[in-house]
Amino acid sequence: MISPSTIRALHVREAQRFGERHPRCAALARAGAQHFLYGVPLHWMSDWGTPTPVFVHEAQGAHLTCADGHVHADFCLADTAAMFGHSPPALAQVVGERARHGLGTMLPGEEAPALGALLAQRFGLPLWQLALSATDANRFCLRWARAATGRPNIVVFDGCYHGTVDDVFVDLVDAGGAGATVPRTRASLLGQVVDLTAHTRVVEFNDLPALQRALADGSVACVIAEPAMTNVGMVLPQDGFLQAVRAACTAAGTLLLIDETHTISAGPGGYAQAHGIDADLLVLGKAIAGGLPCAVYGFTAELGARMRAAKDAAPPGHSGIGTTLAGNMLGLAAVRATLEQIATPLAYDHMLATAERLDAGLRAVLARHRLDWCVSRIGARCEFQFCATPPRNGREARAAMDDDLEAAIHLYLLNRGVLITPFHNMMLCCPVTGGAEVDALLQAFSACLTELLG
Ligand SMILES: Cc1ncc(COP(=O)(O)O)c(C=O)c1O
Repeated sequence: MISPSTIRALHVREAQRFGERHPRCAALARAGAQHFLYGVPLHWMSDWGTPTPVFVHEAQGAHLTCADGHVHADFCLADTAAMFGHSPPALAQVVGERARHGLGTMLPGEEAPALGALLAQRFGLPLWQLALSATDANRFCLRWARAATGRPNIVVFDGCYHGTVDDVFVDLVDAGGAGATVPRTRASLLGQVVDLTAHTRVVEFNDLPALQRALADGSVACVIAEPAMTNVGMVLPQDGFLQAVRAACTAAGTLLLIDETHTISAGPGGYAQAHGIDADLLVLGKAIAGGLPCAVYGFTAELGARMRAAKDAAPPGHSGIGTTLAGNMLGLAAVRATLEQIATPLAYDHMLATAERLDAGLRAVLARHRLDWCVSRIGARCEFQFCATPPRNGREARAAMDDDLEAAIHLYLLNRGVLITPFHNMMLCCPVTGGAEVDALLQAFSACLTELLG
């Protein structure tokens, strides 16, 4: 319906507009290029599809101000790290106070027991450990799972992302027609010399028979899953799928690791809890400390006993699990403040209501333009995808992607003061995202579609 040449023309025009409006970002990009690879502290920061990176002057609440002074309604929210708003005042105050009394000590801060109780109460698992990122938490969980079960293999869902955890980067790729697929180490990985398919099995989301086959030989330590996929566009579980995954894992003696790093958008206890799914291991990162580098993982008492037994049976020396900075006192304080003061039921009420309004608004805009793109939502998190029916798995979600169209829309929105997540079409509402921000997004989105559809 939208021709490639129209998309290209819009993109070229918007790139020019961006250049005219961002002279200081361009100057910073030139200066950054002197000493940073790709001109930025983390090379992904140059992947947003803007002609030069958007350098940030300030991020506060639901807004981000760039170095050129343009204020953006931020629906990316650091790809979930700022899901409760940028720099919530209560968090900034606690962090400022705590920073004066010690940062890292490699000893437990005295508020550790209170935090443990809080995590147990909120997420329903009795035992916890801290890490610095969700990537690390997932990595550590996989290692614990293998150690505790004595099994070598894991199962992932095609199209998953759980951070830069090497083990999970296995995809299903076409194998000579008729829908046949084979597992392959993700081709984009740099410097990976190990064939990851040796110990990682991959199946499609919402495909229970495939999962049961993958678990059948009793060699799988752990299934790692987001309860709804959020990194290949959005893929929601079909009715009963998660319950069936739980049952299949239990039947096979396999642990179920639920990664709620993004799906904590569903509600105060996350998606799995809201749908009555019990995890053996649960990972939360990014927003759990309001965007500060901290993550947590929880597990059952029974698994905790098996983890201890594995550790006690190992020779003295390093477990391969942990980092010097994990569990630092600032992280403890930040997670506690987030849970007690920021990620409150009241905050969720607002976030969910705002996202509902955004969801309805997106559907209305698409209907007005007679576009049969779908809209999906996980609580505070919305996504539009370039397909008529919501994808059932990673393969369908990937097929619905259109990088050029997406980049043109994102740049158009950004030039009108609205930021959405790069790499797919995710929009997140924080506790201070309001009707004005939602209306700005909808208006810009509609104007963009008008131009694209001629
Ligand atoms: C579901 C999920 N888990 C884990 C991670 C890793 O988080 P981090 O990059 O903060 O380590 C991500 C990052 O996007 C994610 O989407």
